[in-house]
Amino acid sequence: MHKILLDTDIGTDIDDILALSFLLASPEIELLGITTAYGNTVLRGKIAYQVLAHLGRAGQIPIAAGQPATLTSSRPIFWPGHEGKNIDHVGIPDHVLLDQPAEDFILETVKAQEGEVTILAIAPLGNLARAILKAPDTMARVKRIYMMGGVFGRNDPTFLLPVTEHNIHSDPEAAQVVFESGLPITLVPLDVTTKTRLGQEELQALGEVDHPLARLLHAELSAWLPFVQAHDGREFTHMHDPLTAALLLRPALVVHSQSMCIGVETQGVYTTGQTVPISAAGFKHVEVVLQIDAPAFQSFFLERVLQLPVANPPNLEPLPEESGPR
Ligand code: RIB
Ligand code: CA
Repeated sequence: MHKILLDTDIGTDIDDILALSFLLASPEIELLGITTAYGNTVLRGKIAYQVLAHLGRAGQIPIAAGQPATLTSSRPIFWPGHEGKNIDHVGIPDHVLLDQPAEDFILETVKAQEGEVTILAIAPLGNLARAILKAPDTMARVKRIYMMGGVFGRNDPTFLLPVTEHNIHSDPEAAQVVFESGLPITLVPLDVTTKTRLGQEELQALGEVDHPLARLLHAELSAWLPFVQAHDGREFTHMHDPLTAALLLRPALVVHSQSMCIGVETQGVYTTGQTVPISAAGFKHVEVVLQIDAPAFQSFFLERVLQLPVANPPNLEPLPEESGPR
C-alpha cells in the first residue's frame, strides 16, 4: 500500500482533477490527505471536496488549504479567477477544509507515519517549501517526493518545449528550497509529460461510463479541449500530473532516468524558473525521468479512470454546518 499526500493546484489545468480521480481509482493507494497550493487555495480545496463527493468519499479524506501567496509573496499568481469554472463549489462551506494550514498538516502527517509518506507534488511548491523551512528534521522523514515539474529540452531539436515549466516558474524560490533540501525526489518534467495525450477518443470513452465522477470529468474535459485547441492549436491535452501519479505506482513505466542535482534559476531575465542540472554540487538526489513508455501509461490510466469504484452513494450535497472533518 502506498501512503500518499497529494499537493495540488486543482481547478486550473484539467490534469490535476484527472490525477486525483486516478488516485481514487487505484486500490493500492491510501490517500492520507490533500493539500492545495497557489492562489485561491480554499476554492481549490472545495473542488477537491466535490471530486471526493462524486465517489461518496467527501469528509473521509482530510483537505488542507495552503497559503495563497508564493513563498516570497513577490510573484504574481498566474491566471486567477479561472479555478473550477464548471464545478459547482458554491454552497460548500469553508469548514469542510481543515482548520490548519497545509504545511502544518503535511508536517503532522509525515510525523505520524514515520518514513512511510510519499508526497505527490503536482503544483507550485509553496506548501512543501514552507513545511521544509518550518521543520526540516520532520520533512527528512518523507519517503520520497514525486514531483511534476521542470523541463530540460536536451532532446528537443525542434525547440518546441519552453525554457521553463509552470510549477517551477510560478514559485521558483519555493522550488529552490525543495531541491536544496536533499530529500529524495523523482522529477517528472515536461520532456516526458508532453508525450502523453488525452483527446476526443478518450472523451468519448468517458462519456460512455455511467458514474457520477466520469460525468464530471466528461463535462470538464468537454470544456477544456476546445480551450486548448483555441489557445495552443492542439486537439488533445497533456496528462502531466496523472503521468507523475502513474510513475509512482508503476516505476516500470520509466524507460530511462538519471540522477542529478538540480538548481533553479531565480533571477533570469528570460529564464526564471529554469531547472538546471548542476554537476558541481555532487549530491545527486533528484532522479529525473527522461524517457517513458507512453502507450503503456495511456492504457494504465484509462483502465483505471474508465473503471471508477462504485460510488457509495455519492454525497453531492454540501455538509451541514460544523459537520466537516475539522
Ligand atoms: O506544467 C504542467 C503543470 O502545470 C501541471 O501540474 C499542470 O496541472 C499545471 O499546473
Ligand atoms: Ca497541477
